[in-house]
Amino acid sequence: MSAQKIQIFDTTLRDGEQVPGCKLNTHEKLVIAKQLELLGVDVIEAGFPVSSPGDFEAVNAVARQTKEAIVCGLSRAVENDIRTAAEALQGARRPRIHTGIGTSDLHVKYKLRTTREEVISRAVEAVRLAKSFVEDVEFYAEDAGRTDNAFLARVCEQAIKAGATVLNIPDTTGYCLPEEYGAKIKYLYEHVNGIDKVCLSTHCHNDLGLATANSIAGVVNGARQIECTINGVGERAGNTALEEIVMILRQHPYLNLSTGVNSKLLTETSALVSHMMRMPVQPNKAIVGANAFSHSSGIHQDGVIKHRETYEIIDPRDVGVDNSSIVLTARSGRAALAYRLQKLGYNFDKETLDKAYGTFLHVADVKKEVVDEDLHVLVEKQNLVAAN
Ligand code: KIV
Ligand code: ZN
Repeated sequence: MSAQKIQIFDTTLRDGEQVPGCKLNTHEKLVIAKQLELLGVDVIEAGFPVSSPGDFEAVNAVARQTKEAIVCGLSRAVENDIRTAAEALQGARRPRIHTGIGTSDLHVKYKLRTTREEVISRAVEAVRLAKSFVEDVEFYAEDAGRTDNAFLARVCEQAIKAGATVLNIPDTTGYCLPEEYGAKIKYLYEHVNGIDKVCLSTHCHNDLGLATANSIAGVVNGARQIECTINGVGERAGNTALEEIVMILRQHPYLNLSTGVNSKLLTETSALVSHMMRMPVQPNKAIVGANAFSHSSGIHQDGVIKHRETYEIIDPRDVGVDNSSIVLTARSGRAALAYRLQKLGYNFDKETLDKAYGTFLHVADVKKEVVDEDLHVLVEKQNLVAAN
């Protein structure tokens, strides 16, 4: 049986861009949107058009430029938001309006200061209005992660009746545990009439570091779209990281779920977004961090040099990185030193290597990392002679 395709909804340009200091102008959004299409995402959420004239212009420019992907604009369940999103999406080959409202009791009572019944009627009106502009309407139930499942099911059912094509179930505050979030998706499948006609979407924030795990729990329980961002950028602790989702589904084929993303472009896309947003990627970030394929302890280096898969579950070339790297530090062993020396053209016998290693450890204790230049100096200063 061929793998079921999970739609990748990229919200780097909307939720990702909400991070302080990461604001993008129209040109920057266009460059990133082009790269996202190349990468193979299914949906590009380009922005929140009503939020500012600049974002309106950017969403419109992305809508006009994009050829294959669906281009989506965010709106609240507010008439002017929806009309503005529809206008900004003009020129898109495949436009989608994303509209919605808070559904948790906390949102209903304190943010919206209304009632559950009023929330349902505003949701229905919003979806109907969006539907009068575009065929493809995604409804989000904000804070669905903390929303009572029975009420959430009622809201979803009414949104479907009003014409929603996609239902987004956001864990807005990153509160859920994977089991809980997966059970929520399953509950909706079992309790909402008409759910088989729409696509359920995950949108998980990372406040407890569970965004990726929750998104995977969502698709394992039937969701067919994942909302995510490059490098996991987003409000507070961020969103689900696109690169993690793509590689998890790829590395676990028995899940029988796949994406249309070209994983070989993940590293360059990560670097582009990091550069444009002026937001460095943490070195230990899964998949795209500078250390994701580098090995510095002697035990690991020895294993990787003998057989890469002893300490790597991903071939770095699959994500666009040429090679694993063997970093020389005071924790490195002889095998790593010999390996790096060989790369520089020095083949030493055991006795010479032992001598080099003794000096190397002194250098490594002083410097955090021993680089090629240090190795050349070390060899020359000690007059070490190659075995052949
Ligand atoms: O986190 C969230 O709930 C959102 C919605 C606006 C979709 O970003
Ligand atoms: Zn969000």
